[in-house]
Amino acid sequence: MKDHFLVTGGARLEGAVKVDGAKNSVLKLMSASLLAEGTTVLHNCPEIADVPYMADVLRGLGCEVELEGPDVVIHTPAEISCDADIDAVRQFRASVCVLGPLTARCHRAVVALPGGDAIGSRPLDMHQSGLEKLGAHTRIEHGCVVAQADRLRGASVKLDFPSVGATENILTASVLAEGTTVLDNAAREPEIVDLCHMLQAMGAQITGEGSNTITVTGVERLHPVEHTVVGDRIVAGTWAYAAAMTRGDITVGGIDPAHLHLVLEKLKLVGAEVETYPTGFRVVQRERPTAVDYQTLPFPGFPTDLQPMALALCTVSEGMSVITENIFESRFRFVDEMTRLGADATIDGHHVVVRGVERLSSAPVWSSDIRAGAGLVLAGLYADGVTQVNDVFHIDRGYPGFVESLNALGATVKRVSVE
Ligand code: UD1
Repeated sequence: MKDHFLVTGGARLEGAVKVDGAKNSVLKLMSASLLAEGTTVLHNCPEIADVPYMADVLRGLGCEVELEGPDVVIHTPAEISCDADIDAVRQFRASVCVLGPLTARCHRAVVALPGGDAIGSRPLDMHQSGLEKLGAHTRIEHGCVVAQADRLRGASVKLDFPSVGATENILTASVLAEGTTVLDNAAREPEIVDLCHMLQAMGAQITGEGSNTITVTGVERLHPVEHTVVGDRIVAGTWAYAAAMTRGDITVGGIDPAHLHLVLEKLKLVGAEVETYPTGFRVVQRERPTAVDYQTLPFPGFPTDLQPMALALCTVSEGMSVITENIFESRFRFVDEMTRLGADATIDGHHVVVRGVERLSSAPVWSSDIRAGAGLVLAGLYADGVTQVNDVFHIDRGYPGFVESLNALGATVKRVSVE
């Protein structure tokens, strides 16, 4: 079944919406449950397809997993398998996060290499070299990454780039290693901090989370815990842009606004009124937005995952914007779809020059990945007429209940299922 959305443009979105736990955190937390025998309970999990996919990966390793709405319950046995089921792992890229926990627990991990990605090539060299510093041998064999270690020993690891995935795998491998690991140029994303908080509650000795140097002193064993997943800053940021795009007024709950500090500062430059609360924020846009420039960078920089929404806003802002993508090489594929809607945008290497127009007009467009799809929906909310956004299975992977929330805020969006 290939669903599409019919997005009617022109409505001003108004009201309140609450975000669930972060997609980019829950999968890593589920994987961290492999580190401790017993029952792990995760609350505030988003109901997206990647959660049951990860449950299948964990089941293939010997765990029992129950999915109960926003709660995920994982029973990890004393002995787990080290071979992540190829079919289960191929379903989604984030499954590579089982590499660290499996190497730590079983001293051997075989994980199928995730395939290519619409947003660019996504190598694992930093994951591998980090695990090698800890004493593992790694190689690529028959389409899988294989890691093996008699024992893991703490080491000094300096990443070439603050990769989110490599930081996570090195962390989850080092918590049970002998001695101290110092991870330099580590990623600082809130999802990394969330993972560290869960590992600390499990008994891991970790300091420096949220800074670019994380220190881990290995312990003999960890115990299972109950943990609440951090709010999804990318979904929250998407709502912030939806408010600006539709000259609307949206209050977003379930999120620490500090996780979107730069995003909200950018929206103030655009002309939005922004109020923050302990667990949320409100964005009100009254006038035509002003064009601003963006460049994507690791946290606390502007998130690459919000670049398509920022670009959508630039297409209807007053003035010219230059958007620079520094994280993923092919993240501008959706720009041609934006031009079908009448956007004036020109790609030049890893920059896009956008000249704001007053009007977009509806057309059929195709999503190429989760965030590109959300960016196209935002453009459709502004465009005259009804925009058909195709291949929305991408959007469904990141936005639970998206259509229902949009309609509750005053939009007219219909999901159409075609057999
Ligand atoms: C995670 C997020 C993704 C987000 C990205 C950057 C998940 C499931 N996904 O992806 O939504 O856009 O962080 O914030 O959490 N790289 C290498 N070698 C490596 C590892 C990475 O060259 O070994 C490169 C990648 O190709 C990319 C850059 O580093 O160009 C950033 O990747 P990374 O931070 O690792 O992103 P992911 O963890 O894959």
